[in-house]
Amino acid sequence: MDGQDLVRSLRAVGSANGLRSVRAGWRRHRTDSRGLPRQRAERARVPGSAQGTEPLPGGGVVRFARSDLRVRVAVGGAVFCGWGGAGPEPSYALAGCPEADGRAVIEPDKDGWRVVSERVTVLVSRHGAVEFRTPGGLLLRRDLPPRWWDPLETDRAEGGSPAGGSRWVQRSETAADGAVFGLGGRASGPLLREGVYRLWNTDPGEAFGPDDDPLYITMPVQLVVADAGSHLVFHDNPWDGRVALRDGEEGAGSGHDRPGGCELRVDGGPLRYWVLTGTPARILAGWTALTGRPALPPRWALGYQHSRWGFGTADEVRRVAAGYRDRGLPLSALHLDIDHLDGHRVFSVDKERFPDLPGLARELGQDGVRLVSIIDPAVKEEPGDPVYDSGTAADAFVRDARGRKVQGVVWPGEAVYPDFTEPRVRKWWGGFYAERLAQGFSGVWHDMNEPVSFTPFGETTLPRSARHSLEGRGGDHREAHNVYALSMARAGYEGLRELRPDVRPFLFSRSGWAGMQRYGGTWSGDVSSGWPGLRASLSLVLGLGLCGVPYSGPDVGGFDGEPSAELYLRWFQMAAYFPFFRTHSSITAGRREPWEFGPEVLEHAGAALRERERLLPYLYTLAHMARRTGAPYVRPLWWNHPGDRKLRGCEDAFQVGDALLVAPVLEQGSNLRSLRLPRGRWYDTSTGKAHLGPGQVLLDAPLGRIPVLARAGAVLPVAGAGGGTELEVWAPATGRTGGGLLVTDEGDGWAEPRVERFTTRVEDGEVVVEREGSQKVGYPVRVRGVV
Ligand code: GLC
Repeated sequence: MDGQDLVRSLRAVGSANGLRSVRAGWRRHRTDSRGLPRQRAERARVPGSAQGTEPLPGGGVVRFARSDLRVRVAVGGAVFCGWGGAGPEPSYALAGCPEADGRAVIEPDKDGWRVVSERVTVLVSRHGAVEFRTPGGLLLRRDLPPRWWDPLETDRAEGGSPAGGSRWVQRSETAADGAVFGLGGRASGPLLREGVYRLWNTDPGEAFGPDDDPLYITMPVQLVVADAGSHLVFHDNPWDGRVALRDGEEGAGSGHDRPGGCELRVDGGPLRYWVLTGTPARILAGWTALTGRPALPPRWALGYQHSRWGFGTADEVRRVAAGYRDRGLPLSALHLDIDHLDGHRVFSVDKERFPDLPGLARELGQDGVRLVSIIDPAVKEEPGDPVYDSGTAADAFVRDARGRKVQGVVWPGEAVYPDFTEPRVRKWWGGFYAERLAQGFSGVWHDMNEPVSFTPFGETTLPRSARHSLEGRGGDHREAHNVYALSMARAGYEGLRELRPDVRPFLFSRSGWAGMQRYGGTWSGDVSSGWPGLRASLSLVLGLGLCGVPYSGPDVGGFDGEPSAELYLRWFQMAAYFPFFRTHSSITAGRREPWEFGPEVLEHAGAALRERERLLPYLYTLAHMARRTGAPYVRPLWWNHPGDRKLRGCEDAFQVGDALLVAPVLEQGSNLRSLRLPRGRWYDTSTGKAHLGPGQVLLDAPLGRIPVLARAGAVLPVAGAGGGTELEVWAPATGRTGGGLLVTDEGDGWAEPRVERFTTRVEDGEVVVEREGSQKVGYPVRVRGVV
């Protein structure tokens, strides 16, 4: 560490914690130098040639000289491949292991074997290359025979495995025109360009922009969109790894295509993966069937929310709430950050500054405003702290290889970390949410759970040698790191379910991994306040949605610094269409209340807020659809047109469901938006003007609004002036029909929702709307657009 690093770290974490964090850094370093296994001589391995096969339900096992490959098609069409004896379970990602599709069998093919299923054909070569082809025979993905490194001492028996402690590499080829998305939350996408992407959840330490990678959520999930078809590949392995992507090129050398390339290197764990094929919608349905459908937020969580690190006192919270109320601005929730805690201790309250939180919650509740609480995993290491004492008694904290509690440094100072990979600890931790509920909180915000330990040098997390239960199997932080936050989310979610069985938990988490959507959503983390940060926040929301995590949104205005009035407003206008719509900022940053930026911004932000309110029936329908089908609310423009190559690179616009297309303003001083339209007729919702896609259009984007287009034929449920639901129907194009859904429930709880389907068509020059299975439409209809 040099002096500059130290100064930076002191600034970042305050002087007392700065010195502690230097010590913690050394401690981590020492712990690892003693606790990690020695680097041993290794030898590189490949599977060798095939020796034979054994049929099993859904496919079978191909035996090679030095390994074996299990191929298993599951009901629903997802294909599992496991090398070296790896099976689908145990897995942190899966919501349960789907049954094998008994119709898929392994059979000889000209160069090896094939497993034919309804959606995909899998070909296994005699040397262990695996191809995935469409039923029509088009190549989607070719995985070359894997390579792995085995320790020399434990000379494994023939057929030994790349699973367990080996490092392995898998090279793959995809279509030359393929576009890759996913890998968790990436700030520079959503299209993932040629380059290397790390798989290790990381707190960037300061506000981040598009060039910062990796961030808080990484996932070995790639969605590849190509002319031949789309597929998702998920390498079910939480160890540290790197994905190197190489762009393909059509007609590269002597007219031949150079395929797109992907090389995945992982430091340990099994080589096993899933492949799902079909349209993007089918893939997301399959993916969330495999890893769990997204949790349905309570209805209020789709309303606008405001937060700040540093509200300071209960009176300030009251003042902020009154600021919204007095200006007639809708507000659904206020979030309390670490400054409401007693000395930053988890599950505590600073009684001087927040003397009566339950009372405050009731008071705000009268105006329909809920309170949401931050929860950090690290527990202050201080005998007498109830969480520390009970965790010590329950043996809940992560220990090092020598059995001592691993200490880190986070906001409360020296701290220890619950081992959420242990079921007993999850249960213990989940019980503490009773304290938050008793304080009047309606939702929880998990933070710092990569997990973070401040240090000016080395990794800002736990030592790699730290021991974890890993559901009783035992292992260390190299394996547990990426699933730490996922397991914390599980603890919180299950705790809340048990404590309040009738209420849907509202939980969002900064870090996570594949499957995290089962427990809740996420947010951008500390996105930097600047125009690049605005773009990064769109990239994150789109990319995470394609990984199965549909509920997310940024710190509107950016976490740090002071956005210009224009930037703040553009951010606000965009985020008004995101599932999670929250202003938030750092204790050292400027304010983010809409009235802090002058009367013009207040007026326009107010309009965005009112439009959000008006769209709530539609957004709530999308929340239910995400729950049922895995389709993200916020979708890339290629969602319905994966074959439109120009749309694959479109990173500055998005769809909200299938009905709306939003083109945010991402550039300073701009009041025009040029946009690549997908196929079909689209209406500019503010002017009513119709545009025809595919093609490029130029739209007005004055400071007061960003362009929003509605698809011709869309039936959009919206809140009418009197509060009741109305249908906004956009005239279908000539000769076409349209439709839409409305899903309603009590706004919370677990009762089956009501699903209503509407169709629309033009008859004798009139737009006709009908409700399926009913004589009457049942809602006021407002037709827009031209017939
Ligand atoms: C982290 C969070 C941020 C929060 C701060 C203090 O930086 O990402 O949202 O305000 O910690 O708790």
